[in-house]
Amino acid sequence: MLTNEEKELLEKEVHGYVHREAAKISVLNKLQEWRGWISDETLKEAAEFLEITPDELDSVASFYNLIYRKPVGKKVIHVCDSASCWALGEPEVKAELKKCLNVNMGETTEDGAFTLLPIVCLGNCDNAPTMLVGKELHNRVKPADVKQILVESKEK
Ligand code: FES
Repeated sequence: MLTNEEKELLEKEVHGYVHREAAKISVLNKLQEWRGWISDETLKEAAEFLEITPDELDSVASFYNLIYRKPVGKKVIHVCDSASCWALGEPEVKAELKKCLNVNMGETTEDGAFTLLPIVCLGNCDNAPTMLVGKELHNRVKPADVKQILVESKEK
């Protein structure tokens, strides 16, 4: 159940919208920030708050790559696998990530620090290959950079 404090903060997200449901992504993002991911229970609470059905909200939540409908690690690594990144070395970067983290795509490391996921074009093609680690965008990533990026990201 949404706490009174959560409701109060979410009211700020819908403020200014003529229709509450226009704030779907903002509300989901806030809840994900607080809870780590969007469980079925959280989805229902958010839908009730937005005065729409859980199915209506789930169609947005499931479509949007940065909303997690399953538990994820402390940080999610999104590796862009669209054309430019793929052509400029994404497969090698991905292989190095899998090796360093000892996971496959879609999995979370044993210590819960990272989840590794693919993502479509991040709109950063001139800096390909690129990946997001949490909220931090990394440009022109080489396999040799991966270990250091992971170490620094864990420290933040
Ligand atoms: S193809 Fe990777 S950022 Fe566009």
